[in-house]
Amino acid sequence: MRVLGIESSCDDTAAAVYDSSAGLLANIVSSQVPVHSLYGGVVPELASREHIRSVVPVVERALAEAGSGREKIDGIAVTAGPGLIGSLLVGLCFAKSLAYAWGKPLYGADHLEAHIFSIFLEQEVPFPFVALLVSGGHTSLFRVSGWEEVFFLGGTLDDAAGEAFDKAAKLLGLGYPGGAVIDRVAQEGDPGRFAFPRAWLAPGSADFSFSGLKTSLRVFLSSAEGRGVRIEDIAASFQEAVVDVLVGKTLGTARREGVLRAVLAGGVSANSRLRRRVEEEGSIAGIEVHLPSKALCTDNAAMVALLGERRLSAGRASGPDLNAYAASRFPR
Ligand code: KG4
Ligand code: ZN
Repeated sequence: MRVLGIESSCDDTAAAVYDSSAGLLANIVSSQVPVHSLYGGVVPELASREHIRSVVPVVERALAEAGSGREKIDGIAVTAGPGLIGSLLVGLCFAKSLAYAWGKPLYGADHLEAHIFSIFLEQEVPFPFVALLVSGGHTSLFRVSGWEEVFFLGGTLDDAAGEAFDKAAKLLGLGYPGGAVIDRVAQEGDPGRFAFPRAWLAPGSADFSFSGLKTSLRVFLSSAEGRGVRIEDIAASFQEAVVDVLVGKTLGTARREGVLRAVLAGGVSANSRLRRRVEEEGSIAGIEVHLPSKALCTDNAAMVALLGERRLSAGRASGPDLNAYAASRFPR
């Protein structure tokens, strides 16, 4: 089965083609960073307008790269939620119209599930595993026991880790989006130079909290002025506080769940310090860690096409009442 995937949940317009036997045939991502960087964050209305401009050319490019016209596509998958509602509606309405016009089945994919299963684009991972989904909008832990068995174990009570990186970068005057810049600047810094808080919450808790860390950075910066502190050391110390909690809770949760594998997904899982530490500490703890390549950590449509291929192959097409949703559907 060959599936066209479309993703527009935030600020990337993406289209991809995934084939059950040939694998990933095309993966196109059109970023809106230049539009939003002027404002230091994603402006929802501008994001919707950019998706409208980009969705047709991006889908055309993906189909051309895959050498697949309408006749070779067996189904269409589109992100239905969670995300920015205006952005989601652009991709969803386009995909619905295309599915109707082409007479193909449509699957409305959950963005979080798509991220979690993105690892299968590159490697097989035996079930069960614990998945850490860590991005600009989410920081959650799941137990994944099968393609249809995804259980929410805990998540952030306030800011997502990526949001914390982005806000920290803004406070440090490093621009937007902040995660990748902090990652780069931190490589020249000392992660133990400054002590920022780690919110571990209740013993054994799989929940997260990063808003205190951000406030602590703001307070630190207001008293650091004129003291000649190095921005590299601040970035490295801030990043270490985030990474400590992400690694500790992921491996701790896997141990408590009696699971020997952990999978990372989402934009923040591209962070080089996080990748190195979770692998090193995972191997000491006897937990096998699986990381998607960096390009598949951030938003893409390849993961949507793959999930669509699985669900459509299992006869799980969405009906004409498919609608977009803004909030996560996983019960707390
Ligand atoms: O998964 P994603 O592309 O979109 C969402 O669904 O949110 O994740 C974007 C987030 C942003 O907050 C960005 O700053 C962060 O991922 N990010 C990183 C890195 N690359 C992207 N954070 C830390 N280190 C990185 N290398
Ligand atoms: Zn995402």
